[in-house]
Amino acid sequence: MNDTIPQLRAYDEATLEAAFATLIEEVRSETSLLQDPESFRLHWLGRKQGRLKLISEAWLKSAPPEARKPLGIQFNRLKQEIEAALEAPAAADSAAHTEQGIDITLPGTQRAPGIAHPLLKTMEQIVQVFHNLGYSTNLGPQVESDFYNFEALNFPPNHPARDTQDTLVIANQQNRPSRDRLLMRTHTSPVQIRTMVAQAPPIRIVIPGKVHRNDAADATHSPIFHQVEGLCVDTNITFSDLKGTLDHAMKALFGSDVKTRFFPSFFPFTEPSADVQISCIFCGGKGCRKCKHSGWIELLGCGMVDPAVFAAVTKERRKLGLDDDAYDPNRITGFAFGMGVERIAMIQHGISDIGHFFSGDMRFLEQFA
Ligand code: PHE
Repeated sequence: MNDTIPQLRAYDEATLEAAFATLIEEVRSETSLLQDPESFRLHWLGRKQGRLKLISEAWLKSAPPEARKPLGIQFNRLKQEIEAALEAPAAADSAAHTEQGIDITLPGTQRAPGIAHPLLKTMEQIVQVFHNLGYSTNLGPQVESDFYNFEALNFPPNHPARDTQDTLVIANQQNRPSRDRLLMRTHTSPVQIRTMVAQAPPIRIVIPGKVHRNDAADATHSPIFHQVEGLCVDTNITFSDLKGTLDHAMKALFGSDVKTRFFPSFFPFTEPSADVQISCIFCGGKGCRKCKHSGWIELLGCGMVDPAVFAAVTKERRKLGLDDDAYDPNRITGFAFGMGVERIAMIQHGISDIGHFFSGDMRFLEQFA
């Protein structure tokens, strides 16, 4: 670092130009000092002992009056050069490296390539099983209206079935009609309604997505989780089609040895409804701690689309001027199913706490790289 104050022999334009060119060259050659920008700044711009201050004092003191203006202009140029160097530390840094050479023995910065989150992987796998059967994907909003999340799915206002799907509601909507009130969707089933209102049968769709419930978090519950919904609507769709489809899907996901069984259950929007169980993949059905010694693991809900749902869809379609009887329950039947992605991923990988999916702990996530 140069601390001497250069001599200025004359004040004509050429001499000034040359003197400042030397100083600017000095600034540029010192950019290696920018690794410590504060000392570079003090060296050049320090209020009392800064080089700029000292040189301008020395040179201005003996300057004839007519040289003051061109000197001032030149000092400003120099100052801008110093400030520009301070503002571009990255560029200065690499300049320094090319000057000094790069130490190739230093370890590099390692950036691990990103991976799909294990939940998304499982979700994608489930969706793929149904794509292979000719299903397409449909998506819907996470902020949903009471109508799509409940009413059209045959949960009337105040019906006790709503208690099982308590959720977060959007504030300040007391003045809206109950069907328009917004909430965080509690399941992916509202997208069944959205799809049927928008298009006539045949329908074969899967609906992956995020859902919300007012559930206390524990090892198997999280207030935010994911589902994959399915809907198949056409002429001549029967419960056998539902059984065959889900049996195939479970074998595709968990291995061809897996058996399925269907237990009577209840959902307002399917009739009859069933819970699907698979033979325990940990003990092969003999009974273990994982299956609570029953040999079976409960995995998803399903059923035949309730005619009341077709009626709600038809009413909506008529409002839109689609008076086509596309969902005439005497001609059209369908089945629907919904599964929890976390639950399936936990069984696939033997994960015992749902919280791992959301903790962001790299030691957990890296196992899926
Ligand atoms: N929506 C139901 C739930 O979240 C699951 C389901 C979907 C059941 C489709 C039947 C048919 O519990």
